[in-house]
Amino acid sequence: MRFEYSSQFYAEVVCDLLVYPIFEEETKDAKTLEALHKSTRGVTKSVLESGEFKTELHRTCLIHKPAGMKASRLLLVGAGKKKEFNLAKLRELAGTAVRSARSVSCKSAAFLRRGSHPLRDAARVVAEGVLYGSYESDLHKTREKEERHLERLFLIAEKPAGAREAAAGLRRGEIVGNATNLARSLADEPSNILTPTQFAERAIAVGKEAGLEVEVLEREDMAKLGMNTLLAVARGSAEPPKLIILRIANQKRRSKSKSPLYAFIGKGVTFDSGGISIKPSEKMEDMKADMAGGAAVLGAMSALAQLEPKHQVIGLIPAVENLPGGRATKPGDVVKSLLGKTVEIINTDAEGRLIMADALAYARTLGATHLVDIATLTGACIIALGSVNAGMMGTDQMLMDMMRRNCSLTGEKLWQLPLDEDYRKAIRSEIADMKNVGNRQAGAITAAKFLQEFTEDTPWVHLDIAGVDLDHDGRPFAAKGATGFGVRTLAQLLL
Ligand code: BES
Ligand code: ZN
Ligand code: ZN
Repeated sequence: MRFEYSSQFYAEVVCDLLVYPIFEEETKDAKTLEALHKSTRGVTKSVLESGEFKTELHRTCLIHKPAGMKASRLLLVGAGKKKEFNLAKLRELAGTAVRSARSVSCKSAAFLRRGSHPLRDAARVVAEGVLYGSYESDLHKTREKEERHLERLFLIAEKPAGAREAAAGLRRGEIVGNATNLARSLADEPSNILTPTQFAERAIAVGKEAGLEVEVLEREDMAKLGMNTLLAVARGSAEPPKLIILRIANQKRRSKSKSPLYAFIGKGVTFDSGGISIKPSEKMEDMKADMAGGAAVLGAMSALAQLEPKHQVIGLIPAVENLPGGRATKPGDVVKSLLGKTVEIINTDAEGRLIMADALAYARTLGATHLVDIATLTGACIIALGSVNAGMMGTDQMLMDMMRRNCSLTGEKLWQLPLDEDYRKAIRSEIADMKNVGNRQAGAITAAKFLQEFTEDTPWVHLDIAGVDLDHDGRPFAAKGATGFGVRTLAQLLL
């Protein structure tokens, strides 16, 4: 897909489809639409007056061969209430537009930028939304895929001096949009294909393209280091575990000075059967996406390698498969983590925190000064927040505040949950330093409490994305399946 900027008058742009967003307020006070009505010789006016076209977000109306326009089709898209319009909604709207364009096999489309956001930001989210809307999760369908994807997208803003801003925004949007789709395609991939070994292979391939150095620790390396909570999860599977470490190729090595080093740590369970504490079979297939946090880290790192992050950053993805094999970890087993703390494994289905514990501790040994982890960690988080917000917990309030402020731009919603010391009680063990599960109460928080044990005094933010990693229903702007949640949040944090 090629993105281009145009400051031409929209009626003059030659393309298969011109997309014109319309705000709810404009159905009454149509002054702002006078030029549109004039150039379509009244057709849009009568469409609006008929009430057939609703201006709620994502409603569309397609008009063929609009008189007075060089475009072959005109697509009106509802943009909702103007005062509620933000960059996240603009991104979605661009996704809706591109999916409509594809459904009528358009090769080129022009998107008229409306609203008052800075052109650079608008360009960026439009590119992200267009790429997001273009993704399909039919990775393994064999029938000839129709070549119906869009080839060129013009962003139109009648601002002749805006070319540089727009180009910069489009470039960033293209990089982050592609990185999001990369994360989605990994999470959609079934577990027989995306094993920990394949995950590492893909990371190496992505790294070559994007400019990442990729290091992979093998089982023996991890055993030597003492990553026994991570290895405890891998025991029941024939697939060997991998710890994938990502560094930006030409980012200068951390100097002696106290420059911060951010570490992104993403849960990479390529399949979570629960292990000996096996899960019920209903919807177990969704557990192929239990590596969505790891995929988000790879996506964000690939984007950051192509952009200019403000700080140094590394990525860590502990990748394992959680199965109940003959050598699997059993409830009651005790293991010693890399940090030296011992863990009584009461429930082998609480495996995410076990692999994250060693990965967090290892990130600190690599010199990380700020830890941000992202994991499909608990069903309890889905009960608490549904599939609207991801759960956010941590010890770095400044960083969490910043991440929340970014939500209206990233469109990835985060909601902070408390992390009082009182919650720690739930994971006390009689035999070891802690157990890996609490009781049924506050499951998302007690899981975070467990992780906190391995961050020690390093500022840390934890994102529980269990409810938001998959979209089961599909949206007007996106296919069903993996969402790539976290790529934009993590990338934005460092930009
Ligand atoms: N991967 C799951 C969490 C999950 C559940 C993600 C549903 C997405 C959808 C995690 O490893 C898990 O099984 N957690 C357990 C923890 C429990 C045993 C304390 C859970 O939430 O049930
Ligand atoms: Zn589990
Ligand atoms: Zn899991």
